Order: sequence, then C-alpha cells, then structure tokens
Amino acid sequence: MKKILTVIGARPQIIKAAAINREIKNNFSNQLQEIIVHTGQHYDENMSSVFFDELDIPLPDYNLKVGSGLHGAQTSRIIEGIENLIVTLQPDGIIIYGDTNSTIAAALAASKLHLPIFHIEAGLRSFNKAMPEEINRILSDHISTILFCPTQNAIDNLIREGFSIENKSKANIDNPHIYLCGDIMYDNSMYFSSISDNKSSVIEDENIFESKFILVTIHRNANTDDLVRLNEIFYALNSIQQITNYKIILPLHPRTKKMMESLLDEENKNAINSNSNFKIIPPVGFLDIIALEKKAELIITDSGGLQKEAYFFKKPCVILRPETEWVEIVENGNAIVTDSNKTRIVSATNQLLKKTDYTYPNIFGDGKSANLIINKIIETLN
Ligand code: UD1
Ligand code: UDP
Repeated sequence: MKKILTVIGARPQIIKAAAINREIKNNFSNQLQEIIVHTGQHYDENMSSVFFDELDIPLPDYNLKVGSGLHGAQTSRIIEGIENLIVTLQPDGIIIYGDTNSTIAAALAASKLHLPIFHIEAGLRSFNKAMPEEINRILSDHISTILFCPTQNAIDNLIREGFSIENKSKANIDNPHIYLCGDIMYDNSMYFSSISDNKSSVIEDENIFESKFILVTIHRNANTDDLVRLNEIFYALNSIQQITNYKIILPLHPRTKKMMESLLDEENKNAINSNSNFKIIPPVGFLDIIALEKKAELIITDSGGLQKEAYFFKKPCVILRPETEWVEIVENGNAIVTDSNKTRIVSATNQLLKKTDYTYPNIFGDGKSANLIINKIIETLN
C-alpha cells in the first residue's frame, strides 16, 4: 500500500479533490492510501467546509489553518506546515492542484525532501507574470515528477518550456513525464450534475425559477483590488441588466465583497442597491453553482473554473480578464475575452446572446481523467 498526501487549500482545489478521492475510494483503495491536508488558505464555511459534506469528501486529516495574509507570509506558513507533515508521515508522493499559493508551497516543501510531486492541472499558461497564479504554476510544473495536463494546449506549453513528451524510463524530478489526461473538473461536473438536479434548491430559494438571468463571479485580484477596473465591471453589469432585462445573479467571493465596500463609486452602489434584479448572494456550494450554471443564459466571470463549466453546460461566457489559459473555448467562439473594459463587456454579452450557431467539440476529455491519473501515480510509485 502506497501513501499519498493530497494538498488542498482554496475552494476549487477542494472541489477537484472530490474527483480524485472518489476514484481512489471506488477503484484503488487496496493500493493507495490518501491523506488529505487542508492548508486553511480558504476557511469561511461557504468557501471550504460546505464542499466536504455535499461532495462526499472525507474531512481533512490535517488542517494547517494558515488563513489569509500577504503572499510571502501565507506561502511560508504552508511550506513549514507541509514540511513537518512530510517528515512525520513519510508519504510516498504528493498530489497538488492548479496554481494557488497552497500549490507552490506544497511543491517547494516536497521537492526539497525528494518526494515525487503529481501536479494536476499542469501546463496552463496565461503568459502574464503579473498574475500570482502564473508564477505559482510555472514553478510548480518545473519541480514536478508527473504533470497531468487537461488540454493539448497545456502539453504544447510544456514542450515549449523544454519538457519532453517521450516519457522515457522511470519518471523523477529530473526526468518528468507529461500526460494529456483531460480535465478532472469535467469528470466532476458530469458526476455532480444529476445530483445537483436532485439536491440543489438555490433556484427556488432565490426565487428565480421563472427568471432569465446572467450568472456572474468576480474574484481575480487584478479586478478586485483596482478601483478603475472594479468600477468598470460593475458599470458594465448595471448596463447589461438594463439592456437585457435579465437578472444578474452574483455569488460574491469574500475578497470582492470587502473591496466593493471601499472601492465602488456611489453611483455603482446605488444602481445595485436600488435594483431588485441585481442579486448579490453569498458564495454557494458546488451543487448550487451547477444549478445556476445550467439555468443561466450566459456566464460573466474572471474565474478559471467557471469558464470551463460554462462550456461543459453549453453556455456562452464573457471572460473578465486580459487573457485566458482556456484558449480553446475562445478560439471555438464559445467565449470572448473582454478584460475589464465596460464597452467590450457589454458588446461581447450582446454578441454572445444573439449568436445561435454554437458548437462544443470535445476539448476536455471523456470524463475519466481521475482514473488515468491514479493509474499513472500508482505506476510511478511502484
Ligand atoms: C485564491 C487563489 C486563486 C484562486 C482563488 C479561488 C492564490 C494566489 N490565489 O485567490 O488562484 O482562483 O483562491 O477562489 O493562491 N477570504 C475570506 N475568507 C476565506 C478566504 C479568503 O474572507 O475563506 C478573503 C481574505 O480577505 C483574503 C482574500 O479573500 O485576504 C483573498 O484570499 P486568498 O486565498 O489570498 O486569495 P483568493 O483571491 O481567494
Ligand atoms: N464555485 C462554487 N461556488 C461559488 C463560486 C464558484 O462552488 O459561489 C465553484 C465553481 O463552480 C468552480 C470553482 O468554485 O468549480 C471555481 O473556483 P474559483 O472561481 O474560486 O477559482 P478559480 O477556478 O478561478 O481558481
């Protein structure tokens, strides 16, 4: 029996861990013991614990409780905590997800202790190093042993950085292997879609059964922490609400909530507060966000996860960023990158709402990514 540490910390990592944990429980429990470590990067009930119960993930074996802070402080607290756990527990390998501070911190701790790193959602690039995530993902990729890429584009990015796809001899940190495995969030969205149909009551709770609405999420630091960008986005949303007469449903990340209080113009605040069709709600669970995604006319977001889920559920998407890692959905005409420019956000929304000839080629795999990933992990550890 091999022992693997799974490190999670931010909301999307907890959700992604559900797919891997489910696969281990169902098919590999006699070969792999998973120990789940929560760094505590996210800690509000609706950013963290809500997911464990509804997605049937065991409670974390350890919680480092690092909380929020400047990047250096947060990252260093996680490095120290993970290092201690690796020394104490002596696992055979470590699974990391994506590109957060929890990801890079766990990778740094593990690499110095010569532990094989399995990076899920590897190879993505925005080519914008002003994003903290771009730094985190490049560095994590370059100290991983196996890099699991969700898309061909991610594989191509790694090849450009000198990785080989030949996967010759046994993988190690100096001879990393890279695999195209599809997106485990596609596994998850398909798996939880019918569960959401049965269990989510958000549409009734928010009284939007009869309503047409646009689902919005905003949390990227480049948007939340910049007075001009944040206001442009909200002027655009107010304008879209007036033009379309659709409701705006915005489950609000705590970071954005805090920054809106201090940065939003009075005009924007008044327009939102006086409009019953502009509904700002607390962050919702994964079953609820799926229900909202499935019923929305369109999704406006700066979230990586929401961009893909829009595609999974066949919804057009406006991307509130200067670029995206998920270039395929833009190239295929399902999404438009607008940055935070009001005119571009409004015009992209109109354009996508009018368009009818959408196609959905298979970009994100067959929904069996977790199986391929666990097979490769076991092969590497044996
Ligand atoms: C982090 C990730 C980002 C990911 C996002 C998912 C990094 C650098 N960023 O961004 O890649 O897309 O998670 O949601 O790792 N806060 C709370 N309660 C919480 C968590 C956060 O109030 O439970 C507030 C705090 O004021 C905190 C701020 O949100 O300072 C930012 O949290 P943090 O985890 O640093 O970054 P995110 O913006 O959430
Ligand atoms: N999500 C959720 N509730 C919400 C908003 C998002 O469950 O209120 C889910 C979403 O469906 C996706 C993940 O959280 O699976 C994305 O997280 P986030 O947008 O915070 O981060 P990113 O994907 O940009 O790293």
